Amino acid sequence: MSPIPADVVIAIDGPSGSGKSSTSRGVASRLGLRYLDTGAMFRAMTWWMLEHGVDVHDQAAVAEHAGKGDIVSGNDPLAPTIVVDGTDVAEAIRSEAVTGSVSPVSVVPAVRTRLLELQRAVIGAGGIVVEGRDIGSVVAPDAQVKVYLTADPAARAARRAAEEGGSDVAATEQSLLARDRIDSSRATAPLLMADGAHHIDTTAYTLEEVIDQVVALAEAVEAVQ
Ligand code: DC
Repeated sequence: MSPIPADVVIAIDGPSGSGKSSTSRGVASRLGLRYLDTGAMFRAMTWWMLEHGVDVHDQAAVAEHAGKGDIVSGNDPLAPTIVVDGTDVAEAIRSEAVTGSVSPVSVVPAVRTRLLELQRAVIGAGGIVVEGRDIGSVVAPDAQVKVYLTADPAARAARRAAEEGGSDVAATEQSLLARDRIDSSRATAPLLMADGAHHIDTTAYTLEEVIDQVVALAEAVEAVQ
């Protein structure tokens, strides 16, 4: 089989717990591509706001500070990193405080504009799997492969609670449904299925099966070029 194009961009969107991160990292490492977790960038920005005492529910205050914080993401799918102003925040951005504040920060247009610029700079000439909420629609509308992952809310909550070290599944489900509502209803770049995206409901599949499906889509792109 011939290799997929070196400039390929694989956009993977969907709500939390749909399997985006594991799928994206698996696809990137299988195909030898870089990996970008845009959710981690929104979390990093949120961490910065909390760290500097910015009221995350005050949109004007968040907008005023949106240009601050030097956010650098490492793109190895086997060991992704995220550093803000020289501090490794990989663990800190998964805290409850950040998870509870990331949606209101993400609705602020100035935040999205700043991160869009950073995301496009990382994507550069491609060769990357990018996961998020608006990758196929806004960040990389020309991506050769667009995937929209979903899963039943109960399955999503069970996965997320397990990732978080066994937190309460019912509470996790409520928290992710609340974030879905904000992420899907915001005016700028809402969570939606992009034109041309392939919808995969991951509920009934293993991770390897989902990775196989996305890899097959990437290989099909090459076949028609
Ligand atoms: O994927 P995640 O749960 O780590 O993302 C955290 C939040 O970041 C999510 O609730 C909404 C926001 N986000 C976004 O608005 N756009 C993206 N492309 C990625 C994430």
